[in-house]
Amino acid sequence: MPIHTSAGFVGDFREAAPYINYLRGKTLVIGVADSLLEGDALKRLAADLNLLASLGVRLVLVHGTRAHIGRLAGSAGHVPQYHRHRRITDEAVLQYAKQAAGMIRSDIEAALGSSIAQAPQRSKPLAVAGGNFLSARPLGIVDGIDMGYTGVVRKVDTEAVAGRLNDGALVLISPIGHSPSGKTFKLGMGEAAEAAAIALNADKLIYLIEQEGILDSEGRLKTNLSAAEARQMAASGEASGGQARLLEYAVNAVERGVHRTQILSGREDGALIRELFTRHGAGTSIARDSFVNIRRAHNDDIPHITALIRPLEEQGILLRRSREYLENQIHSFSVLEHDRHIYGCVALKTFDEADCGELACLVVSPDAQEGGYGEMLLAHVADEARARGIGKLFALSTHTGEWFAERGFQTASLEDLPPARRRDYVESGRNSQIFVRIL
Ligand code: ACO
Repeated sequence: MPIHTSAGFVGDFREAAPYINYLRGKTLVIGVADSLLEGDALKRLAADLNLLASLGVRLVLVHGTRAHIGRLAGSAGHVPQYHRHRRITDEAVLQYAKQAAGMIRSDIEAALGSSIAQAPQRSKPLAVAGGNFLSARPLGIVDGIDMGYTGVVRKVDTEAVAGRLNDGALVLISPIGHSPSGKTFKLGMGEAAEAAAIALNADKLIYLIEQEGILDSEGRLKTNLSAAEARQMAASGEASGGQARLLEYAVNAVERGVHRTQILSGREDGALIRELFTRHGAGTSIARDSFVNIRRAHNDDIPHITALIRPLEEQGILLRRSREYLENQIHSFSVLEHDRHIYGCVALKTFDEADCGELACLVVSPDAQEGGYGEMLLAHVADEARARGIGKLFALSTHTGEWFAERGFQTASLEDLPPARRRDYVESGRNSQIFVRIL
């Protein structure tokens, strides 16, 4: 009997395979707001954590307590006191924090053990390891205000955490720490997750929040931020409150060895899985350096360039270029790389007439178009041309004339082309439109 799978399944599975391999044995620290640790959101998270654990991902989950403390304090008529957006922890709030941690832990354990959440190949539930992994010290007196039992992370017991991870357990960390003198302090989830990720040298720090990710001042999702951009967003006030603090934690983590911080929705079904196993991910990615890199192509890039240009050659949009041509001309190509994947290419051809150059073979992969990559490749070639003393940049196009016209290119005639290029033009018979941009 034939087996039917959805048309997208095979492609999706192929896309996910490299990520599955990559993540095996890697440590993820996931900080999650406690408002997401209830109801359907918790069930889905538990299912996703079980799936990740079954794929060999080492998981550290750091939960928040804010919503639970708010409810406990509210029903006791306790009015919260804040200073600089941080809750002042008095005796009562400390008790609520301990109660909240106990309740949340129990709910997470129950959800991970439920049959819906369990990965089918697991014979028993994913073990949850808890413990006194964080030591803390008091935040102290800030601007003359005593912050009480509000603490900051002093140390993470990485050996103990690693031991539990080696045993195959999920390590669950509550944002509560103890001082060597035996006092207990309430910590922030964001800071605790950041400290754990740095200490464990995690591959990724993930924050699951109510929003889609980090939003700009008009409420639009920022998909990628370098550490410098993230810092600027927080400093300029474009991100404020909880979002600004998350950016600070994210920047600290990536500047201290964590490969990437990802901030994404814990409400949206599948966002975590999309983030980890698809090229486009989900939410906001923060890395130390800018993600998109345009660099000179080398021979290893030829298969990727070929994959980009062949379909367009077949449609007649690009002139056919043989493997031999690419090998000989690879030095004139640049490629656009994002997260170790090549999404675009462009070439700069030069002529005997030193002030003339030609932008050629500009392609952005169909799944990455309309995100500004074409514009970036054009800007890159224009810069490269200027640096070589080229003043006239030509582009010849059969289908994309308007794109060039909208970007400062003027219609030109055959006579404007350098003689060698004129001959090729006539021989090719493609009758392309000719454009030139004065640099
Ligand atoms: N004609 C006019 N406008 C176009 C075309 C086109 N053929 N293709 C895309 N656009 C517009 C989009 O509608 C979008 O407009 P908007 O900003 O108003 O929404 C805008 O261009 C997108 O710009 P970018 O995001 O900067 O460009 P992108 O990363 O999508 O890359 C590119 C543009 C390179 C043209 C891409 O569409 C592509 O690879 N096309 C197929 C290959 C091709 O035609 N290459 C040029 C060959 S000619 C030569 O290399 C000299």
